[in-house]
Amino acid sequence: MNDQLPTPDADALAHSNELAALIRNEILASGGSIPFSRFMERALYAPGHGYYSAGSTKFGAAGDFVTAPEIGPLFAACVAEAVAPVLRQIGAEAQFLEIGGGSGAFAEVALKRLLELDAMPARYAILEPSADLRERQRERLQRALTPLVFDCVEWLDGPINEEWNGVLFANEVVDALPTPRFAIHDGEVFEECVVLDGEGRFMRTERPADALLSAAVRHVERYLEKPFAEGYRSELLPQLPYWLQAVVGGMRRGALLFVDYGYNRAEFYQEERDDGTLRAFFRHHVHNDALLWPGLQDITASVDFTALAEAGTGAGFDLAGYCTQANFLLGNGLAQRLEEVNARGDERLSLKFNNEAKKLTLPTEMGERFQCIGFQRDVEFEIAFMAGDLTWRL
Ligand SMILES: C[S@@+](CC[C@H](N)C(=O)[O-])C[C@H]1O[C@@H](n2cnc3c(N)ncnc32)[C@H](O)[C@@H]1O
Repeated sequence: MNDQLPTPDADALAHSNELAALIRNEILASGGSIPFSRFMERALYAPGHGYYSAGSTKFGAAGDFVTAPEIGPLFAACVAEAVAPVLRQIGAEAQFLEIGGGSGAFAEVALKRLLELDAMPARYAILEPSADLRERQRERLQRALTPLVFDCVEWLDGPINEEWNGVLFANEVVDALPTPRFAIHDGEVFEECVVLDGEGRFMRTERPADALLSAAVRHVERYLEKPFAEGYRSELLPQLPYWLQAVVGGMRRGALLFVDYGYNRAEFYQEERDDGTLRAFFRHHVHNDALLWPGLQDITASVDFTALAEAGTGAGFDLAGYCTQANFLLGNGLAQRLEEVNARGDERLSLKFNNEAKKLTLPTEMGERFQCIGFQRDVEFEIAFMAGDLTWRL
C-alpha cells in the first residue's frame, strides 16, 4: 500500500469491501482469474458499487480529480464556439450528443453559449451509464438553465440508433474505458489478469492473450515497425473501433470531437514507457495500484490518438484535425473570452479567468497533455483545428 495516500473512512472502506467481495466471487466463478479489463469495469461501473455508479464526489476540489469543464466555463465555451458552425450547417434538426456528462458542468455552459451563438441544437442528449451521475446532471441543469433550454436536454440509455445529424462530444471518456493490459514474454502476447492470493487479496498475473488482443498488439508492432521488447507491458483497447461505431450510432452527417490525455501511437508505446500508462486517482493523489480499494478510486489509461484516428476513419468519417488542447482552445475563442472578461474591469474576475486559462493551456498543466481529435462527415469541421494541427503526427 502507498502510505502517502489518505485513508478512506470506515463507511467508504465497508462499501469497497462489498464490491471487493463481488469481484472475488466473480474471480472464483471464472476459474480463478479475470482479465484486468473486467476488474476495471467492475471497479468503475458495477451497478450501485462502482466508482462512477455510486454516490461519492468525484469531480472538483472535494473529489478525486478535476476535469477541464470543472475548472470553469472557458473550456465548454470554446468547444461550443468550435462546434456551433457545424450545428448551424446542419440546421433545425441538429442534435448534440455528449458522452459521459460528469457533473453536468460542460452541458450547462455549452448550452448557454450555443444559445448565445444562435446554434441551439434541437436536442441535447447525454449518454451517461451512471444512474448517480445522471441524477446529479439533471439536478444541476434544471437549476441552471431556463425551462425552455432544459426541455431540450434528454438522457439516453444507449446510443442514438435511428438516423441523426449533429455533433458528438466526449471529454475524458476514452481514458475511462476498461482497458486490457498486455505483456510480452518470449515474443508471445500475454494478457494481464487478476487472481486472488492465499489471503484473498487481489493480485496481478498473466495468461496467454486471446486472438483479438494478440492481433491488436501485432497491428501496433507493424505500425511501429519493430516488435515490443521482452517484458514490455502496456494497455491497448482492441474494442475501441466497435465502441466508437456504437456511440456514433446512426449519425449520417456531422462531427465528432474527443478530448483526452494521451499521445500519438509512437509516443504512447515508447520503449521507456514499458509499464504502460495505467493510473489510479484518489483525492488528488495519483498512484499506480489500480487494484486498491475498488469503487473508491478512479482508474484510467492514456489514449492512443492514432488508434482513435483509425477508429473514427474506420467508422466512415474524415479526420478533421488533431491538436493540443491549448491550440484548440486558442483557435476557438479563448483569447476573445478573456478579453471580454478583462474589459469588465473586475480584477478578481479577471484573475480567476486568467488562472483558468493558464491551467487549460500551459504545457506544464493541461495544455499539451490533453489533446483534441475531430472527425467530420458531410460538414466542415476542420476549421476548428486551424491552430497547430498535428494530424501529420498520427
Ligand atoms: C472522467 S469522467 C469525465 C466526465 C466529464 N466528461 C468531464 O469532463 O467532467 C468519465 C465519464 O464517462 C462516463 N463513461 C464511462 N464509460 C462510458 C461509456 N461507455 N459510455 C458513456 N459514458 C461513459 C462516466 O460515467 C463519466 O461520466
